Amino acid sequence: MKSILLLLSAILLFSCNKKIRPYQDIDNTTSFVYQPQEAKDLMEKHCYTCHSPTAAEEEGRIAPPFVAIKARYIDKEGYNRAEFIKAISEFVANPTDDNALLYGAVRKFGVMPKQVFPDSATVKIAAFMYDYKVQAPTWFQEHWQGHGNSGWEQSGKEFVAVAKDKTYEDIGLEYALGTKKILGKNLMGTIQKKGTIEAMAFCNVQAIPLTDSMSVNYHATIKRVSDKNRNPNNKANAEELIYIKKFKKDLVANIDSKPVIVEKGDKVHFYYPIPTNAMCLQCHGTAENIRPEVQMKIKGLYPNDLATGYSENEVRGIWSIVFDKK
Ligand code: HEC
Ligand code: HEC
Repeated sequence: MKSILLLLSAILLFSCNKKIRPYQDIDNTTSFVYQPQEAKDLMEKHCYTCHSPTAAEEEGRIAPPFVAIKARYIDKEGYNRAEFIKAISEFVANPTDDNALLYGAVRKFGVMPKQVFPDSATVKIAAFMYDYKVQAPTWFQEHWQGHGNSGWEQSGKEFVAVAKDKTYEDIGLEYALGTKKILGKNLMGTIQKKGTIEAMAFCNVQAIPLTDSMSVNYHATIKRVSDKNRNPNNKANAEELIYIKKFKKDLVANIDSKPVIVEKGDKVHFYYPIPTNAMCLQCHGTAENIRPEVQMKIKGLYPNDLATGYSENEVRGIWSIVFDKK
């Protein structure tokens, strides 16, 4: 038995050697070069839809704020920079109960849904989290001390953003991510508190009205469309299908997709992919992922549903947003 284990770990060691993970070069002394602004943008784009630093302590929160993760990993575990980056990268690559250290958060929110991010993005985000102060919710200090910890001053430099004019890409992303945050918060919150069937009902009744209310809020037309739509109102048109194809290619090539911007008259058309993570599969996965009672509910509400058969990290659809030129 022992020799089999040894053999297995040898195989694992050798196979790991082939793919050098980016954080292997990082230690406390060598400088790992990244653009802080880029890292911060990646963090807000990929992580803040769930790890929002502004959500209240209870109502509407679906994941811990990053400052809580820093406190746990640095204050409690005593991780140095290299260990911190490694721990975050490894957890994000493989989020499981066993790998998680924030037991309270796992109990409260369930373990983080697995989602594929480009390797280098996670390393940059982790380095940024360590090197700079991240925005902390006002309730955090009290919460941390309430759990029997002494006062903890967040480590890291203050980040000072360089002022720049917003591009059409920036504006479109702000609208897409703002809407994603609202939908995601309500969807994950409902799943965590009431289960999948209730969450189906929520999507059925609220997905379009919530998206529409964000359109009003931003003075834009915001839609989620798909080549394999569930709601007939979300069917992609011929142009949108072209961009869906492009984003699918990006995803297969592990490229962090840039939004597509098309200027038409006095309007800007913005397109950006919506990838699946592990959580989506309970309603958009294969027959093995979707519980029979959920399948029944889908059939009842959407007799012509096309939106199943997905696995993790596929293009479920795209944001299609139109707003006025500046
Ligand atoms: C779809 C929602 C969602 C997204 C997006 C998300 N997370 Fe999480 N994450 C969670 C939840 C829920 C938890 C709390 C449960 C847990 O610890 O697994 C968590 C916990 C964590 C933890 C703590 C793990 C521990 O030790 O318990 C780390 C680190 C983390 N996330 C990093 C990230 C990073 C980095 C990103 C962006 C690249 C990200 N997350 C994006 C939902 C999300
Ligand atoms: C609880 C079940 C449930 C979960 C989980 C779920 N969805 Fe959906 N999804 C739906 C329902 C129901 C609709 C149709 C909404 C409507 O009628 O407007 C939908 C519609 C969509 C649409 C609009 C296009 C279409 O097919 O009508 C997109 C895009 C989408 N979901 C993406 C996702 C992604 C990405 C995830 C995971 C992050 C996810 N969904 C998780 C139930 C779910």
